[in-house]
Amino acid sequence: MNAIRTGLALLACCAALGAPAASFFEFGVWMRALDQHSVEVQRSLGRRDAEAARGHARRIEQLYAQLEVFYAQDGRTPDALEISRDGKALAAGIGPLLDRQDFQAATDAAVRLARACNDCHDNHKPLR
Ligand code: HEC
Repeated sequence: MNAIRTGLALLACCAALGAPAASFFEFGVWMRALDQHSVEVQRSLGRRDAEAARGHARRIEQLYAQLEVFYAQDGRTPDALEISRDGKALAAGIGPLLDRQDFQAATDAAVRLARACNDCHDNHKPLR
């Protein structure tokens, strides 16, 4: 009963903030996945494992797409929306670079992706 009440209070709180409640609870899950795939894509590029790198890049692209939807719905932080779009585009570019066996450019894109995390964190972490 208490747990239910706490849950309801949390939902009410997020609704009041204007953030989509369900996504709000998923945010930490997305971030931990983003963190993991960001490390793994660089590792697989380091050992020239195009297949693995492609898989991680695709997951990163999907996670940024979820962030994009979240920030588009939220509507209060256009810069976070733009960072999410840029990240999605950068991740989407890795597969085609690997098609051309351009590991250097793919690695540069992965490093740029990892560096850009703080562009959003600096202004928007914790979620607000
Ligand atoms: C567009 C915004 C944005 C981008 C881009 C972004 N983050 Fe985050 N991240 C956040 C916010 C907001 C939080 C705080 C979430 C909260 O308050 O629950 C967060 C939290 C985190 C956390 C802590 C999660 C937890 O609850 O344990 C990790 C780890 C993380 N981010 C990793 C990354 C990595 C790695 C990248 C880049 C590959 C990245 N983030 C890119 C917005 C972003």
